[in-house]
Amino acid sequence: MPERIHAPKGVAEYVPPESTRFLHTRRTLIEPLVNAGYRCIELPVFEDTSLYVRGVGEGTDIVGKEMYTFEDRGGRSISLRPEGTAGVVRSMIEHGLARGGLPVKLWYAGPFFRAERPQRGRYRQFNQVGMEAIGYDDPALDAEVIALTDAGLRALGLTGFRLLVNSLGDVAERPAYRDQLTEFIKGLDLDQETLRRAELNPLRLLDDKRREVKALLADAPVLRDFISAEARAHHDQVCEYLTVLGVAFEEDPKLVRGLDYYTRTTFEFVHEGLGSQSAIGGGGRFDGLVADLGGDDMSGVGCAIGIERAMLACRAEALADPPAGRVDVFLVPVGGEAKRSLVRLLAALRRAGVRADLAYGDRSMKGGMRAADRSGAELAVIVGERELADGSAMVKHMSTGVQATAPVGDVGGFVRAVQGELARSKESVASSARTGESATADGNEMDQEAR
Ligand code: HAM
Repeated sequence: MPERIHAPKGVAEYVPPESTRFLHTRRTLIEPLVNAGYRCIELPVFEDTSLYVRGVGEGTDIVGKEMYTFEDRGGRSISLRPEGTAGVVRSMIEHGLARGGLPVKLWYAGPFFRAERPQRGRYRQFNQVGMEAIGYDDPALDAEVIALTDAGLRALGLTGFRLLVNSLGDVAERPAYRDQLTEFIKGLDLDQETLRRAELNPLRLLDDKRREVKALLADAPVLRDFISAEARAHHDQVCEYLTVLGVAFEEDPKLVRGLDYYTRTTFEFVHEGLGSQSAIGGGGRFDGLVADLGGDDMSGVGCAIGIERAMLACRAEALADPPAGRVDVFLVPVGGEAKRSLVRLLAALRRAGVRADLAYGDRSMKGGMRAADRSGAELAVIVGERELADGSAMVKHMSTGVQATAPVGDVGGFVRAVQGELARSKESVASSARTGESATADGNEMDQEAR
């Protein structure tokens, strides 16, 4: 037997029923963005490597150690996208989106790639829902992006997360801070590799998750003491807006993020139930990035949420699964002629927007009914020789066993009869829910996307 091929190590992939949960999570996180006027941007998953070297920063772990970079057949250096912001800004400049009015508000969802050591919550291919608001340095926009992320996480039912916010000030203020921090780090007992990283960018050491490094840095100088009055005022206003919006936050003066483009506001949503990979989303302001990538001098702010981490958080909080994607009607033909008739009626049901499927594979009545049962459909429609002779199909309510009929010779009449039976079953589920009996309505609330 040929050897089986497995998925590459550390990739997030979704098969049913987990794929339903994935779609539900993605859709729930996107909804607040659409409602807030953000428009969809769909970008390539690979770009010119220089976009990330310039956009995210050569000294970052993401670009220095974690990118999937390769030469394409034309000898160009290409990288799988490790994050979305640089690509969004590149595309916005390329398509002149700013001409359509500011701010340019965009959302995206898709896979991203980082060659990290896989562990729970950390994958080599993972998915993000992200948003960018470009064009103004209005602190109310920082608060909007944060509040929309908060709203998406809450819409999933999550409550056990915290929001940490910080200000990194402006680029002009960094050198003085960098010098002081470098001086401080020189006095620490650190290994060669860590010192080498600190030399590239000492701020990154503040982001080190190792307990012993954290302890050594407890008394390190904080950037907050170096930032300008303007940056401080901006930060205060962001905090004020968050309070107005009712978004709870904690100040974290040591919060730095793993990407170099951030200025002023940075923030992270962390969840206690996730272990070491606790960030479910994060972002900040990137006031120099548009100009650095060849566009006008324009500020921007954004955030990205990790779908896998959001799903793990839902599991950690034991939130109920979304309803499974199921059909409402399952057709069971018995015999060739019945099958021809039901294939046609199946297409008519689907055209009318009814979620329907058929027992393929020329099964016996028993086999067909077993498939109907497994499908989770509320109605089974059975047609055999007898029904064909009578001109009416048998419609069976799977949860109650109640039976009805629908005409097989009249397509319109058949569809109306099936819809009528479905409405009846929904009504009986609703009324038993009102009287407190248990109901089996799963599937009927399923979102369109999950189908
Ligand atoms: P980031 O913090 O690198 O920011 O990633 C955002 C989120 O993606 C993280 O909080 C985490 O939930 C998820 N994530 C990152 N790496 C992995 C991984 N290896 N496996 C699973 N999940 C992961 C950015 O990407 C910025 N582009 C966000 C942003 C948008 N800043 C401004 N605008």
